Amino acid sequence: MGKLFIEGGKPLAGKIEISGAKNSAVALIPAALLADGPVVIENLPRIQDVEIYTDILREMGADLLLEDDWIEIDGRSLRPMTMPNGRVKKLRASYYLWGALLGKYGEVSVGLPGGCDLGPRPVDLHIKGFQALGARVENKNGVMSMKAERLRGARIYLDLVSVGATINIMLAAARAEGVTVIENAAREPEIVDVATLLNNMGANIKGAGTDVIRIEGTDHLRGCRHTIIPDRIEAGSYMILAAAARADVTIENVIPKHLESVSAKLREIGVVVSEEDDSIRVIGQDHYRPVDVKTAPYPGFPTDLQQPMTTLLTQVDGPSIITDNIYGSRFRHVDELRRMGAVIKVEGRSAVIEGGSRLFGTRVVASDLRAGIALVIAGLISHGVTEIDGVHHIERGYANLVGKLQSLGATVWKESMEPENIMRGELTDGT
Ligand code: UD1
Repeated sequence: MGKLFIEGGKPLAGKIEISGAKNSAVALIPAALLADGPVVIENLPRIQDVEIYTDILREMGADLLLEDDWIEIDGRSLRPMTMPNGRVKKLRASYYLWGALLGKYGEVSVGLPGGCDLGPRPVDLHIKGFQALGARVENKNGVMSMKAERLRGARIYLDLVSVGATINIMLAAARAEGVTVIENAAREPEIVDVATLLNNMGANIKGAGTDVIRIEGTDHLRGCRHTIIPDRIEAGSYMILAAAARADVTIENVIPKHLESVSAKLREIGVVVSEEDDSIRVIGQDHYRPVDVKTAPYPGFPTDLQQPMTTLLTQVDGPSIITDNIYGSRFRHVDELRRMGAVIKVEGRSAVIEGGSRLFGTRVVASDLRAGIALVIAGLISHGVTEIDGVHHIERGYANLVGKLQSLGATVWKESMEPENIMRGELTDGT
């Protein structure tokens, strides 16, 4: 728990090294449990979601070796047990324990997940997938109990494109009997990352990254070594930050292809974006054009960058509209941005943003992870000091945020809630 303080208006420039992808890490960690041997995962982001996941696995008896940026997971010592709420409530991706443990043991009892409050976040597609594989699913006061004598491959059509359901079905199907085909599958790079790990473990998965994925189940998966892909959402956040702060920032350790929709939108506004093999340079400009942004499943513009993008659009010369087609009520950052001087109207699943706003530092609250980074960007370009409460949300997904911002020249520091622990200046955010 703590607060983030930002003294805005400082000139920013430099390089940022991107960490491993959060949304991959939280799927790869449970996926590793499917192996009958140790799995090493490298380029591990040191973020709260990873710490919570490793705590859950330890509680279940898994053998873990957690080093600076890698982890070795040996799921052979795992004790299948009911995990009601507690830690599983702390993160959305705890739902991957359903697919992984159902695949491994044929049964699982794990509570419904928590995670960012972005409005309703149903799990019906996950359940539908497990049932199609032959599992009986019961919701016992919020604990999802699933059991199958034998999981059998099936043809599963997802009514909506869902990252979580696609990965969860892949995890269970990797140990099912026969072939599973997921139609209308999500195509996010993190899905390819999970399929790559499973294939390295000995699974036979084809088509990950397209909307039809074919999984041939197997009885045995072995240990292996895997490197997590770079976090395209962290990278996109820093790209937007550089544009908003009119800074010259090179973002390193990225896969530029994963960020095409973001680069294209920034160029449309008038930002100079250039790509190398594994880095992207963003050069902010004095004047930007207004744009319309619509979020969509990958390769469309990610909903996870809608909130930081809202902050950037307060700085363009005219009104813009941003529509979230994935989470239609993901606008809890808007009230806070308004308190800082932004002029934004929310209409249904859209926000209409007046450009050309002068922002001022004040006390604001990060209601969720990406709302948090939207406020951080706002703080960096504001006049005066911004005080952000709810930092734990931001720490769920941004490794060493304070250190990375300071390396660009930002004046930012974190204070813990206890007055005696207040430290200033050179602090990192503890991740
Ligand atoms: C993942 C990401 C999250 C991102 C989101 C959309 C992780 C850990 N989180 O979340 O950062 O914002 O993708 O890119 O990877 N839906 C249903 N029923 C279901 C499942 C989903 O109706 O059973 C709906 C959701 O409410 C949402 C849409 O489908 O409107 C997409 O959600 P989904 O892709 O499943 O999001 P998550 O996997 O939870």
